[in-house]
Amino acid sequence: RKPDPCIVVIFGASGDLTKRKLLPALYHLEQGNLLPSEIAVVGVARRPLEQSFPPDMKEGVIAGGGVEKDDPKLDPFISKVSYHAMNFDDPKGYDSLKAVLSGIDEKFGTKGNRLFYLATAPEYFSDIIKLLGEHGMSKPTSDRTWVRTIIEKPFGHDLESARALNDEVNKVFDEDQIFRIDHYLGKETVQNILVFRFANSIFENVWNRNYIDHVEITAAESIGIEGRGPFYEGAGALRDVVQNHVMEVLSFIAMEPPVSFEASAVRAEKVKVWRAIQPIAPEHAIRGQYGPSTINGKPAAGYREEDRVSPTSQTETYAALKLEIENWRWAGVPFYIRAGKRMTKRLTEITIMFKQPPLRLFKKEGTSEHIEPNFISMRIQPDDGITLRFGAKVPGPSMDISAVDMDFSYADAFGPSSNNGYERLLLDAMLGDATLFAHRDGVEATWALITPILENWKKTPLSDLPNYPAGSWGPATSDALLKADGRKWRKL
Ligand code: BG6
Repeated sequence: RKPDPCIVVIFGASGDLTKRKLLPALYHLEQGNLLPSEIAVVGVARRPLEQSFPPDMKEGVIAGGGVEKDDPKLDPFISKVSYHAMNFDDPKGYDSLKAVLSGIDEKFGTKGNRLFYLATAPEYFSDIIKLLGEHGMSKPTSDRTWVRTIIEKPFGHDLESARALNDEVNKVFDEDQIFRIDHYLGKETVQNILVFRFANSIFENVWNRNYIDHVEITAAESIGIEGRGPFYEGAGALRDVVQNHVMEVLSFIAMEPPVSFEASAVRAEKVKVWRAIQPIAPEHAIRGQYGPSTINGKPAAGYREEDRVSPTSQTETYAALKLEIENWRWAGVPFYIRAGKRMTKRLTEITIMFKQPPLRLFKKEGTSEHIEPNFISMRIQPDDGITLRFGAKVPGPSMDISAVDMDFSYADAFGPSSNNGYERLLLDAMLGDATLFAHRDGVEATWALITPILENWKKTPLSDLPNYPAGSWGPATSDALLKADGRKWRKL
């Protein structure tokens, strides 16, 4: 099924998300013949970019990969891309936008359906929503048309602001018109967690406290803050990726099987997981900040030296948490999560570490050596895939055991992919399917977990920041978190 004809209106279109992710994603959908032919894209932002916007978007699409310069579909697609300059808080701009959109409906047959994409800085979200409402743009004009809005992260900066934003959005849009986006849910490998667990009969039986010792989730980035100093200073790793991306991944790992793959069923199971997580003890919340270092022979700046970052900044560029999910399946199984910038390498990975067998039959004579436990490693990116590690007998006269891997690679099995996570989500929003989007309850549940840590950190500045060199695996306190439980982060 293809979506209905519609206009995708992107607020904040001059930001790099539009060029780097959204337009390439829309074009990949077009290439895959998944979009209706009556579609148009309108970029909205303050600067007058009417002339440069379409060619700039074309460049973005080409840079996004999987597209040849002379691709015959590219120019016709770009001809449906236009730009409208306005201030987000200026009511007059909405009058003219409304007229522009009606004109596009006439020209391209987009039938009055609207997908508003809020990709601005978060402080504009409220104004845009309110003014769309006041200008009669938030409701469909007939029972055959629809209006939906995608809201980018960050959705609030703590529990209170997330609630306030939810209240404002809900005043103007019904919950089924709202698509709170988290691009991790658009990643094939994240969706595959559910397939792995619920479409196979061999794994789910061992997916519980009887067999699993602990779970690790690592979201490591090698890049720093990429010039986003002012944004990152007010965010930090917990707000930037843990409250959203990491929590989403965790919910897929930990949730009960939903009764169906409908939005309400899936979202209800996710919220149950977050609500079962116990308040996080201060000693189970570790923060770090990268300091200057040398990476590959080149000097690398510390966080406090980055552009527009305070030289005494307390913002965390690394966070590690120990989470306890108190429910029937997971009681007693710690979930250790960590996320950081400027780590040794870029890797988002989940390790499901299994318990040792009840009896060590193959102990080496005279030693108490443990055999390496079994694990399942799910790599979200890069080198997307899954590894199952188990012990095998080393050939020879004794019963020596060596760890071996069974590997599944996405690229080997299905070929390379240029999906950036946004394709599926944009398509689903156009189709009105909210399964892979956050619900109000979910956003508030994750903020309820994270907010007390943020408040505590604010009250207790650390005197030893920066506490890990750029290009390393984070601060020593993060290793100590697992060591206290007799465990270690798996070497990645
Ligand atoms: C964004 C964060 O939401 O996710 C960035 O704001 C981060 O700081 C990015 O780099 C990571 O996304 P991905 O898809 O590259 O893992």
